[in-house]
Amino acid sequence: MRGRGNLGRFIESSSAIAHKTPSTRTAGRTRPVRGLIFPAERPEEGLAVILIRHETASDIGARERLLDTCFGESRYAKTSQRLREGRLPADGLSFTAEDADGHLVGTVRLWHVATGCGRPALLLGPLAVDPSIQGCGLGSGLIQAALGRAEALGHGAVLLVGDAPYYARFGFSGEKTASLYMPGPFERERFLGLELKTGALSGARGVLRGTGAFEPIPVHAGEIVAADARRQAA
Ligand SMILES: CC(C)(COP(=O)(O)OP(=O)(O)OC[C@H]1O[C@@H](n2cnc3c(N)ncnc32)[C@H](O)[C@@H]1OP(=O)(O)O)[C@@H](O)C(=O)NCCC(=O)NCCS
Repeated sequence: MRGRGNLGRFIESSSAIAHKTPSTRTAGRTRPVRGLIFPAERPEEGLAVILIRHETASDIGARERLLDTCFGESRYAKTSQRLREGRLPADGLSFTAEDADGHLVGTVRLWHVATGCGRPALLLGPLAVDPSIQGCGLGSGLIQAALGRAEALGHGAVLLVGDAPYYARFGFSGEKTASLYMPGPFERERFLGLELKTGALSGARGVLRGTGAFEPIPVHAGEIVAADARRQAA
């Protein structure tokens, strides 16, 4: 199992997100993006270079298609989704991986939550990597970038629901989540936590709730809801 020792290197490399400004290599796109070239080492000849960068609004369509591919319709039924829906992810903690042709090949986001006793934490997910390049280390690169940035921004703890054998390598375990509950059905052995600051989850208990800012309501949403209510009442 890999643990905090490995995380230290992740933080070092992910700090490059704030400083490097490589240009996208996609024809017609000239806007520079902040990002971290993955793998961080000089790529060997023939090795694909992936850019991990902050997500932008133009990534949303491709991100949703990737999530549909990786999780299918069931993703909307997950209890984690109850903590995310209608809310914005934590500032600066949505990441996109883009291949050399500008295709979105990976995504991960972090969300504000609070424990039942009011401890703040981040909820990680969904994490997804394009099936064509799974197993090449990109999932790890995305988690390293996300955790490193979260720590640099001063966040104390990260929670998630996922496969313990995968997330244990980043230091996640069920040790700190034993007295915590998701606000709906969840598998206890998959509910994991990681302290970025020692003690951030000590004594944490109760049911998680979403605490992130709400998504702005589309301009016409109020009219649509009102019209729908009138139809229902008629
Ligand atoms: C899970 C996922 C994000 C991992 O990304 P990835 O880029 O394929 O993973 P990495 O290359 O960083 O790591 C590969 C290693 O993780 C292991 N691994 C991958 N998924 C795993 C899982 N669900 N459980 C346990 N180990 C897993 C691989 O066996 C491999 O092990 P090794 O390093 O000992 O060879 C990716 O497979 C994916 O998108 N899957 C579909 C969506 C999903 O399940 N998301 C996570 C929700 S918990």
